[in-house]
Amino acid sequence: MGNKKVYRLGLIPGDGIGPEIIREGTKVLEAAANRFGFSFHHTEFDFSGERYLKTGQLVTDEDIGKLRQLDAIYLGAVGDPRVPPGILEKGVLLKIRFDLDQYINLRPVKLYPGVATPLKDKGPQEINYVVVRENTEGAYCGVGGVFKKGTPEEIATQMDINTRHGVERCLRYAFNLCRKRNEKKTVTVVDKANVLTYSGDLWRRTAQEVAREFPEIKLDFAFVDATCMWMVKNPEWFDVVVTNNMFGDIITDLAAITQGGLGIAAGANINPEGVSMFEPIHGSAPKYAGKNVACPLATIAAGAMLLESLGEFQASQTVEKAIIKATSEGYIKSLEAGKMGLSTSEVGDLLARFVKEI
Ligand code: IPM
Ligand code: MN
Repeated sequence: MGNKKVYRLGLIPGDGIGPEIIREGTKVLEAAANRFGFSFHHTEFDFSGERYLKTGQLVTDEDIGKLRQLDAIYLGAVGDPRVPPGILEKGVLLKIRFDLDQYINLRPVKLYPGVATPLKDKGPQEINYVVVRENTEGAYCGVGGVFKKGTPEEIATQMDINTRHGVERCLRYAFNLCRKRNEKKTVTVVDKANVLTYSGDLWRRTAQEVAREFPEIKLDFAFVDATCMWMVKNPEWFDVVVTNNMFGDIITDLAAITQGGLGIAAGANINPEGVSMFEPIHGSAPKYAGKNVACPLATIAAGAMLLESLGEFQASQTVEKAIIKATSEGYIKSLEAGKMGLSTSEVGDLLARFVKEI
């Protein structure tokens, strides 16, 4: 047993319900590690609204240096109502995404059996696609400024930066993923090329060039407004959706509701050549903090993505099977906080047991 693989895992519990759900997520990861013969070495980071209010510190360059040494990062949630909007988002979450060059935000939209969707006549067959969101540029780049602030002539600019390099690597990731999924073999580029003609043209031209390397894959284009409609009306049309940072942010909240809500929707911030970070896509939900009522399944599903990124495929699939067992066999009444019929820690215990026994 001397050569058992040890992964260096960074934990960022964060704010609100973050610590509770990361505790359960870690429990399930440990169960998977025990069963499949590897282990985790944990390093905890206290980035949070709490730390900011006490010390004024966000994520420092020294912290980033430590994060670079890890194999993966597991994040709960950052967000504190006592801190003005933008500070923690930019200083913690976006700082890590940008500095570690996690240029893909991967958000599977998968309705698990037994989970209720608000979409009429749609089931797990119809709701099964992934959104590949560009994660390091676009409107999130922080370029812009303000002039004559506070006067009637105030001007605010917020640039939407699209680089050939950034767009191309995101598209190539989407095509490769589509090939690997081997499902509908369709990549849908979502944009607003009828109005945002410069960036739209860059995305579309680049997509057509990259598509030549993937002759078996169909390339589709869709406008973001129409996409919102189709995600509700015909989600079965989608396989791999790829889009810029801002559109990806917006459509994945809509997508999350179609897969059963924020209680189950997971995401990964991926640097295929570096350190990736896995998180539930819900926020810190301060009103449920400390009550042991939040649903940890989104965090546990993010854990399955984390295992896959480490190459622990069996462990990842087993965690996913455990989630499906819990949702499809009536163990959990609802994915809404406080309505699960179980506490946060009971759901974690249940999933850890399934991972051991399945
Ligand atoms: C998300 C969140 C973040 C984003 C916020 C908290 C900065 O909404 O991960 O989707 O906009 O990317
Ligand atoms: Mn969002």
